[in-house]
Amino acid sequence: MRIDILTLFPEMFRGPFEASIIARAVERQIVKLELHNLRDWGEGRHHVVDDAPYGGGAGMVLKPEPIFRAVEAVQPLSPEPGRVVLLTPQGRLLTQAIVDELAELPRIVLICGHYEGVDERVREHLADDEISIGDYVLSGGEPAAIVLVDALVRRLPGALGSEESLVEESHAQGLLEYPQYTRPADFRGLGIPDVLLSGHHEEVRRWRRRQSLLRTARRRPDLLAQALRAEPQDEACISDEERRWLEEELETKLDSD
Ligand SMILES: C[S@@+](CC[C@H](N)C(=O)[O-])C[C@H]1O[C@@H](n2cnc3c(N)ncnc32)[C@H](O)[C@@H]1O
Repeated sequence: MRIDILTLFPEMFRGPFEASIIARAVERQIVKLELHNLRDWGEGRHHVVDDAPYGGGAGMVLKPEPIFRAVEAVQPLSPEPGRVVLLTPQGRLLTQAIVDELAELPRIVLICGHYEGVDERVREHLADDEISIGDYVLSGGEPAAIVLVDALVRRLPGALGSEESLVEESHAQGLLEYPQYTRPADFRGLGIPDVLLSGHHEEVRRWRRRQSLLRTARRRPDLLAQALRAEPQDEACISDEERRWLEEELETKLDSD
């Protein structure tokens, strides 16, 4: 996968892209990350990229010309044109399903806004997609781009080492992950569930699945409701037996409508 990032602050990516899984994926050529400074396409001698908002108001708005020119210059750098994604608090709220959808693409081009935001014509006539990483406002699209790149890269085949697993992680099957423990089995008198020491794989699997269901029910009833609506062929599907067990544990009837 190739990801082109248009930003006024390429230096903000240095730390996150130079460590851990992202750095390893770049090194193994699983992903190509290309940073482009929007200022290179700024207007005039001073490479101006922003201006005051029409109609008045606080802050500066990123001008359309540098962003359009940047995308037009960057797209031909690779034979496959990328999906142009504007990072904005007004976009589709990022979920694992959206990450999975974007991870299928050979290329994306991310536009990071800054200041008061981006001229609306970029959204209307240049962006193919708009992504928000949460219902809060960041100072710029850069942290959002880093979050998106991290979530995407760990999905790419070969990016994770054998010690890291995608399948059982939170959100992978629409549920939160079960609790994890490591050595020592007794830490300051705090133990771990006996089943994890039993060596009985089927029992461990069952315990984990049930913990995952219970945890999701207690912390994220919205996700559980979705999982309860899953089709039988869906991995996330909750069996009748599991539903009965959950209802007993929670002492409540579960509604899947
Ligand atoms: C201060 S924000 C501008 C917010 C804009 N005035 C609004 O109310 O929608 C500056 C830039 O940060 C980025 N940004 C802020 N919050 C974000 C979020 N939750 N998700 C993705 N990008 C975000 C966008 O690129 C945005 O253009």
